[in-house]
Amino acid sequence: MERIGFIGLGKMGLPMATGLVKEGYSVTGYDINEKATLTFKERGGGIATSIHQVLAACDIILTSLPSVKAAEEVFLGERGLVEQGDSSKILVDTSTVSPELNQMLDKSCTEKGIPFLAAPVSGGVIGAEQQTLTVMVGGKRAVYERVLPIFEVIGGNIFHVNEQIDSGTTVKLINNLLIGFYTAGVSEALHIANKKNIDLNDLYSMLSVSYGQSRIYERNYQTFIANNDYEPGFSLKLLRKDLEFAMQVAEENQLDLPISKTLLSLYQQVEKEGYGDQDMAVLYQRVLEQSNKREAAK
Ligand SMILES: NC(=O)c1ccc[n+]([C@@H]2O[C@H](COP(=O)([O-])OP(=O)(O)OC[C@H]3O[C@@H](n4cnc5c(N)ncnc54)[C@H](O)[C@@H]3O)[C@@H](O)[C@H]2O)c1
Repeated sequence: MERIGFIGLGKMGLPMATGLVKEGYSVTGYDINEKATLTFKERGGGIATSIHQVLAACDIILTSLPSVKAAEEVFLGERGLVEQGDSSKILVDTSTVSPELNQMLDKSCTEKGIPFLAAPVSGGVIGAEQQTLTVMVGGKRAVYERVLPIFEVIGGNIFHVNEQIDSGTTVKLINNLLIGFYTAGVSEALHIANKKNIDLNDLYSMLSVSYGQSRIYERNYQTFIANNDYEPGFSLKLLRKDLEFAMQVAEENQLDLPISKTLLSLYQQVEKEGYGDQDMAVLYQRVLEQSNKREAAK
């Protein structure tokens, strides 16, 4: 059995790595946050205190990191995965980063003969815990086939999009652009129901059997809005990051996407107001607060 390394044991990485442990893999975890590493240890994982130790102990190394900066540090930094890695290892980034970063990492890995896949995931923390994530993979087919048994542990739906390294990321960004639309749509639509004294649970039941239904409405309403609890989940700042990447792709391809542009400025503004660390469903709360402010100013 291949020995697995997992770097980034956050909301997604921890359950993904734990799933691999449950299936009998030897998994060595590493995170700059010591608390995350210790939690992984409690769940049966091995722990490393440096990237060097991960490379020494593992054959296939997966990463789940929160930003381009973090991914650059882990892959391209001094004593990072590329500098210390060699062709006997396979590197797989499951983070959602820019297509540009996928290409940069692929170039650096190729120069050192290190097989690399960019494999973002969808399905949220619940999908990671239940090992049902959708995995969208870009990169060489032969490398994909070697990693497939691992993907089949963390996910329920695995797709090799094509051999272009950023192809999985492109699909993932399209997915998250739609998540951004639905999240904003749900927030504003529910506000109409409030104003017209329609019970939100009743609305949910009716729309669940109508075309207004969506997986995002289901998730945002049932888990967050109905409980008035916005502990993430998928934080609003991570969604803002993905919308920025989607708009970068649009710009690079000279696409004019006016609604997407407006959406991105909305999320940027809401993050500036301090909602960034809460689940993206908090957009509904912000619609209410804005409305209350307007009422109070009348
Ligand atoms: N949360 C979701 O629902 C969700 C769903 C799909 C995809 N994603 C993507 O998965 C990735 C991770 O998301 P998350 O929600 O788990 O984020 P998170 O912030 O909960 O976890 C990231 C982890 O990486 C660690 N980290 C940061 N820099 C590091 C470094 N230099 N070395 C080692 N560890 C480092 C952090 O300490 C943290 O534990 C993101 O790219 C996100 O867009 C998230």
